[in-house]
Amino acid sequence: EADTLERDFQHTVDADQRIEPRDWMPDGYRRTLVRQIAQHAHSEIIGMQPEGNWITRAPSLRRKAILLAKVQDEAGHGLYLYAATETLGAAREDLTQKLLVGKQKYSSIFNYPTLTFADVGVIGWLVDGAAICNQVPLCRTSYGPYARAMIRICKEESFHQRQGYELLMTMMGGTDEQRAMVQDAVNRWWWPSLMMFGPPDDASPNTEQSMRWRIKRHTNDELRQKFVDMTVPQAEKLGVTLPDPELRWNAERGHYDFGAPDWDEFWQVVKGNGPCNAQRVAHRNRAHEEGAWVREAAAAYAEKRARGLDR
Ligand code: 3HC
Repeated sequence: EADTLERDFQHTVDADQRIEPRDWMPDGYRRTLVRQIAQHAHSEIIGMQPEGNWITRAPSLRRKAILLAKVQDEAGHGLYLYAATETLGAAREDLTQKLLVGKQKYSSIFNYPTLTFADVGVIGWLVDGAAICNQVPLCRTSYGPYARAMIRICKEESFHQRQGYELLMTMMGGTDEQRAMVQDAVNRWWWPSLMMFGPPDDASPNTEQSMRWRIKRHTNDELRQKFVDMTVPQAEKLGVTLPDPELRWNAERGHYDFGAPDWDEFWQVVKGNGPCNAQRVAHRNRAHEEGAWVREAAAAYAEKRARGLDR
């Protein structure tokens, strides 16, 4: 009986069909999805902080409006993804609790500081660019609700990437100081952007099984390579240099060769010792505390409605 269920499940996945919430699925598949989608959602919510930091100091009303829209989008992405975890039986408040106490992760990239407004452009260009490389394949992930959330998210993500690149194009057409600000931001965000794709495949405990279950459609290194190949020409058009002396086109491979990110730094940041980890988690805890009255009011109202007392 269990073997048949397992065989039918894998047959559905191998036929590139979707697994839906009510379908039988191996416990490990459910656990991996809750882990990945929850941490993806946490990343969207924490990702609001680095950019939110610049909303009150944007250089023009247009830039402020764009940044406001982008940060609101990130909150919405978090919502879709938490909703996707609920179809797997996870409870959102439980996942939030795990984030607040550091039991679940969020993307390492958000533990770096945004020092100038050029960082807002570089985050749009590189961080959202990397997110697109990682998220487009996830539109074909085997779990239905996750794939459908990704389709919606990817549409908004491309706006995020374009606005960042356009912001940088504007600054590169400005003064020498502005050009220096952009280059400084690129120097600080390039390597952390490559780390977003996760550890090298041979140091990734989850990739093999996630590929077999078609949760992942490409490995960490494949997507990292795709991102580098896509980004180098954009950097040339922008007129910035990427801070990697080993970066060069390899005609045989048909890809760019590039240097290795500092994996010790990566694991330190993942473990919580990055430049902004404490600040990001403290901010999220404070927001949770300050929002308690909203949750209590909503629960009290729901209780009254249930007893028909809200009229
Ligand atoms: N930051 C933090 N933790 C990371 C990480 C990163 N950049 N890369 C890997 N890890 C963690 C993994 O979560 C895993 O730990 P866990 O088992 O406790 O969860 C461990 O390091 C080993 O890594 P694996 O490669 O084995 O783990 P995965 O198979 O889960 O692959 C992943 C990691 C590629 C990030 C994958 O989980 C994934 O594709 N997730 C969905 C995409 C996502 O989360 N993107 C976040 C980017 S930010 C964003 O989307 C916001 C946008 O608006 C900018």
